[in-house]
Amino acid sequence: MDDKHWYQTAVFYELNIRAFCDGNGDGQGDFLGAISKLDHIKSLGVDAVWIMPHYPSPLKDDGYDVADYYGVHPDFGTAADFKAFIDAAHERNLKVIIDLVMNHTSDQHPWFQAARTDKNSPYRDYYVWSDSGSEYPETRIIFLDYEKSNWSWDETAGQYFWHRFYHHQPDLNYDNPQVHEEMFKVIRYWLDMGIDGFRADAVPYLYEREGTNCENLPETHEFLKKVRRLIDEEYPGRVFIAEANQWPHDLLPYFGDGDEFHVCFHFPIMPRLYMALKQGNRRVILDILRDTPAIPAGCQWMTFLRNHDELTLEMVTIEEREWMWQQYAPNPEMKSNLGIRRRLAPLLDNHKGKWLILNGILMSLMGTPIIYYGDEIGMGDNIALPDRHGVRTPMQWDSSQNAGFSAADKTYFPVISDAEYGYERVNVANQENDPDSFLSATRFLLQVRKAHPELQRGEMEIWETADKSVFAYWRILDDERTLCLYNLSAEVQSVSLHFPELAGQGKLIDLLHEGRSWTLNDNIPPVLKMRPYASHWLHLARR
Ligand code: NOJ
Repeated sequence: MDDKHWYQTAVFYELNIRAFCDGNGDGQGDFLGAISKLDHIKSLGVDAVWIMPHYPSPLKDDGYDVADYYGVHPDFGTAADFKAFIDAAHERNLKVIIDLVMNHTSDQHPWFQAARTDKNSPYRDYYVWSDSGSEYPETRIIFLDYEKSNWSWDETAGQYFWHRFYHHQPDLNYDNPQVHEEMFKVIRYWLDMGIDGFRADAVPYLYEREGTNCENLPETHEFLKKVRRLIDEEYPGRVFIAEANQWPHDLLPYFGDGDEFHVCFHFPIMPRLYMALKQGNRRVILDILRDTPAIPAGCQWMTFLRNHDELTLEMVTIEEREWMWQQYAPNPEMKSNLGIRRRLAPLLDNHKGKWLILNGILMSLMGTPIIYYGDEIGMGDNIALPDRHGVRTPMQWDSSQNAGFSAADKTYFPVISDAEYGYERVNVANQENDPDSFLSATRFLLQVRKAHPELQRGEMEIWETADKSVFAYWRILDDERTLCLYNLSAEVQSVSLHFPELAGQGKLIDLLHEGRSWTLNDNIPPVLKMRPYASHWLHLARR
């Protein structure tokens, strides 16, 4: 694997600077604090970090409401702190990608302020205006719990403006070539600063066209290809990652012919992992894998279990969504928009076997996995906090005041302190030397993945065992092959390891359970007895 394609086999970590570590004692996480915790990130075995928006912002959407594309939020530190963070990460051989929010700005951005106050300002045309607010009626509303329309009236401007998200996030007008130039400038600015790429926010929505649902339009792809060209020509080796919450056939064009995004988040597979686990049936995973198209060379999927948003249920059917809500959001407070605002461990009943299954799949199925901060120790959530804030609480480092996150009296959100997930119990220090902890399991899975290239970039071959509650696949690279198996059910499952073509070639060694192996050299296939919710990665050790 050449260096240029580093993102195809890397493991990423999603970092919320505000939530990670408070370096200056003001109750908010910052870059200096995050630098002091880079060794923790490195110790997991990850290769890259994605940081959520770090720009000056009113933080009404946690930084996805950008007020200045060139700055660093004063709560998070200075430009020098940002640079120091990048350097400190690079010293540890960790890449850093940042969020690039191109679709919209905050209404506090000087462009919008100029646009709304002066019809003749050159910035007026940076945004999308209407006298009637009736255009593009086929466009869905994304933040359904909060917004009634994608148009909002602006008293000062005397017109409606277009927004796909909150009403304080006006969409930029990509029909204006000046907006393209502005974005190219922003992109160059941060790449010059030494970052390794972008996670591009909300890319399906850049353009609006009457008679369409205003998503995935050809003009959008054309613009995104220009960004990619800029990156390839001027900053080869940097990566461009798409956040496009779409069905696989709509996602494919975001790779272009290998000339648009390097990586796209695979949204549809995520909820199906939870679904299959709860149903004790692999069917929905197999269906979505079948529907997942091959992608151009040099591209990659990004897979995840949770992130800073709600567990989105946009990419499932209406019936499946209802079912997921019933199963995973028993308290209506847990619902948000079309999703579920809970963290990984509580979604999985804090059950180690279930946790290992989903993380095992994440680390071996396909694509580039990304871990959400705090999930490596099984952090809980706080549904008493509004919106998606309940999954963005301070990182739990130890059992001291504020979980070791901050020396301040008060933190930006309270640390989790309930009996099951509270910081006194669930924290990095406690788990550090406990071989049975989530933290140790995270490190172990990453280590095994790293030691076995077939788990990173091997061909994937589904193996359909007789019982539907077992999900199994081979990963194969040249002579190396590993069979990954998961028992999605609460019952013991016996699997006959019947591989006549491999008979006599060696034995299957369990990478997840030391000392267990199955010889493939006689006519009677060995039987793997899978305990409830068991995971196995069986590597063929050749004679
Ligand atoms: C997607 C981000 O993940 C989410 O947090 C944000 O609210 C919207 N885009 C709007 O920027």
